[in-house]
Amino acid sequence: MTTNLSRRSWLQRSAMAAAILPVSRWYQPDSYISRSGSPFPASIIRLNSNENAYGPSQAARDAVMDSLNEANRYPRHFMASLREEIARRENLTPEHILLTAGSTELLGLVGLVYGLQGGEVVACNPTFDFMLIYTERLGCRWSRTPLTSTYQYDLQGLAKATGPDTKLIFICNPNNPTGIEIPNGELRAFCETQAKKYPVYVDEAYIELSPNGRESSMASLVDSNPNLIVGRTFSKVHGLAGLRIGYAIANPVTIDLLANFHIGRGMTISSASANAAIACLKDAEFEAYSRRKIIEGREMVCKAFDNLGIEYMPSAANFVFFGMINSIWIQSKPWKRKIFSSAVMITFLDGQE
Ligand SMILES: Cc1ncc(COP(=O)(O)O)c(C=O)c1O
Repeated sequence: MTTNLSRRSWLQRSAMAAAILPVSRWYQPDSYISRSGSPFPASIIRLNSNENAYGPSQAARDAVMDSLNEANRYPRHFMASLREEIARRENLTPEHILLTAGSTELLGLVGLVYGLQGGEVVACNPTFDFMLIYTERLGCRWSRTPLTSTYQYDLQGLAKATGPDTKLIFICNPNNPTGIEIPNGELRAFCETQAKKYPVYVDEAYIELSPNGRESSMASLVDSNPNLIVGRTFSKVHGLAGLRIGYAIANPVTIDLLANFHIGRGMTISSASANAAIACLKDAEFEAYSRRKIIEGREMVCKAFDNLGIEYMPSAANFVFFGMINSIWIQSKPWKRKIFSSAVMITFLDGQE
């Protein structure tokens, strides 16, 4: 049996969505207000955007304040320093790095560069669909390969789905919404084979939270595979979601191609976000703390599911994908047949641990 749920319809049908939706309404731009008048009562634990409740670190906060001294200037030198820091950490050069306003901007940019040519983007389903929906709007078809019956990536199925119309293969590892990591050797082999024929984008938003962390990344393949693009973010382990900073790692040829379509060649980044990101990369202690707390939360959730007899998937991210089949929560409800939901119950607001 294979799954064939779109992420959206699956969420809509999920029990958790019912609990999430009233909270999500707060995200409507119209109702968004600043921290001083936060619309979130302190008692609300926000679980619906896979955020990090432990960040930002003190170093990142200080870096934002420091950056204000130069807020009258364009952010070029902050950006250059950040590219250098990322490159050093990845053992690459700054020319391998493109900074974007969150990895969402990168998803849009890659979607634009490859999706504008029509044809199709090959991706599994369900997965993180921002780029896929965007490319559909650009006139590019999303060729959906279902996950296997155990919600694993079907790499062979993805390879089979490629053809003359393929403009891009999209991979999300660990996958959102399942949280499952693709076995490293299999993904490496897949990327090496497929990137010889097609552009391959690997979204690694949660890679730092996977059991082997960045060792599981595909970043080391970009030099020998110019068609491969790795997407990363400071929103998750580093806790900078509100500052909107992400990056691509790719061969300089590909970075240059993307940069040509990036308006102002990177002028969407702010000094504050770049400086905060630099501080994050230098703060190994906070990163280790954040990772440890998130993994502790993940284990706590899984243990609770074990106790409740609720089926769930092993997660390599900061959310857990769980089934509520025959669960005590829904036994008397009409929607008890087969409902899966994303329980992003990993982090707690300060003071609520
Ligand atoms: C898999 C995945 N990729 C990318 C993003 C976008 O994150 P950001 O734009 O904050 O970098 C998210 C956000 O939740 C995500 O889950």
